[in-house]
Amino acid sequence: MAHRQAFYDPFASIHLRLEESTPSYSISEWFPAPLPNHETPDGEAAIMMMSDQSPIALKPLPLPLIIANPSPDTDGDLESQRGRASIQLPIKGQGVIAVRVPPGDCEGLTISVWSSSSGVFPPTMLSLNLRKKSCSLEYSTPDNTTPIEWKKPKSEQASYLQEGTVEETYWLSVDRPNGWIRWGRGYTNVALATGEVELKYKDDTGVMVWKDKGKFEWLDTVQDVRYTLWGPNYDNSNAKIVVLPLPLVADLPPYIINNSDVTLSDLENNNFTVPQNLTPECQRLYHNVAGANILLDDKSFPYFSQAIQESVNTEGKLGFNMLAKKAAEFGKPDIEGTYLRITLGRDMGDSPGVPYVLEIWPAGHYSPIHDHGDSNAVIKVLHGLIHAKYFDSLTVQPRPNQIGTAILKQGDITWLSPNNYQVHQLCNPDGKGPTGLVAITIQCYRYTDQDKVHHESFRYLEKDGGPEVKEFVPNS
Ligand SMILES: [Fe+2]
Repeated sequence: MAHRQAFYDPFASIHLRLEESTPSYSISEWFPAPLPNHETPDGEAAIMMMSDQSPIALKPLPLPLIIANPSPDTDGDLESQRGRASIQLPIKGQGVIAVRVPPGDCEGLTISVWSSSSGVFPPTMLSLNLRKKSCSLEYSTPDNTTPIEWKKPKSEQASYLQEGTVEETYWLSVDRPNGWIRWGRGYTNVALATGEVELKYKDDTGVMVWKDKGKFEWLDTVQDVRYTLWGPNYDNSNAKIVVLPLPLVADLPPYIINNSDVTLSDLENNNFTVPQNLTPECQRLYHNVAGANILLDDKSFPYFSQAIQESVNTEGKLGFNMLAKKAAEFGKPDIEGTYLRITLGRDMGDSPGVPYVLEIWPAGHYSPIHDHGDSNAVIKVLHGLIHAKYFDSLTVQPRPNQIGTAILKQGDITWLSPNNYQVHQLCNPDGKGPTGLVAITIQCYRYTDQDKVHHESFRYLEKDGGPEVKEFVPNS
């Protein structure tokens, strides 16, 4: 998929299908009861639902996205142009609402959930309010509104509405089974949560129950969703909303193992994922490189990895000289800030460059922080150690935030997809020197099959550079 933003957002894999769909749904199909101040549609929003791996429905739908007569905003008297849209969760009490916010001077985003099945209007609501200098989660009845205290996995500022220089996705996850309300920015992962609150606890019988039954029990049947998006002179006509049917509970871990190796402990602790949990493209890549014979030191050349190590560690030898030539590849000359890439096979047109790449990482060498053109990838460590660091976005200011890490040793296999681990940095953590242990990986890439906008490059940030995102065309 083309680089529409630094991280994957839930819109990525369904973007193209939108053009093939027929907008044939009326507003009445989506509104169980008329909304107050509901006015004539003056814009169009795309309403889409999808699972984590593939769309389950796609319905472009005319909506009252821009209200013709601006009303005072909730924070003051500012004249605002408001965008509103409503939709229902496909499963009562759970799901993720993701709103794509176009760039511009947006002053506020509110996502509210309620249950119209009670027949009471206005209903009891839970609302997430994101502003440029505040974030609040509120519980409101027809009579009053009370704030809910929430936890801050990163910082309070991280949950604020960001400066609108680039398109951003903000999401809210409602998790009825476990009682978690989470929200965040970027792709829909628990690791990207910027705020969360746990509204249930496990009682003596082991059942999860609401902490304040009278206050929150209605969340069991919550299904209606509305968002408002506003700002003076803010053009919100390209805003979009996506609803995912499952809440965000736990992210898939970065390590893949074969299903025959999974233990009960692994299931309990979420240590590994099996390839069957991944995108079809990652499954395909996994089965191409996971085999026992994808290795360096075979009978024909049992000392291959040792020879590579000596070549890159010894001044004047081929590997060392090649690295020296590439020292300025990602910015200021820095021989440790690069690595060697050797392509295998040919570019079949379904990946950014040649799909199979052998990468050689001398001790202490590292990549820049980069993304993968919204492609899928599987990486197998053939020799040595690789330290993977995962980040939230290339474009977040002042620099990306690290959201996770993984240490991969020889034989380990990891993955990334448009939805997970898309922005990372790899390094060989071994100590530099003539005996430093070289790391060698095979990386393979594949675009999502529906992706018809192949961006033949990765994007990266220079180590000591500014916020400018650079482009890197994969080559050998
Ligand atoms: Fe990478």
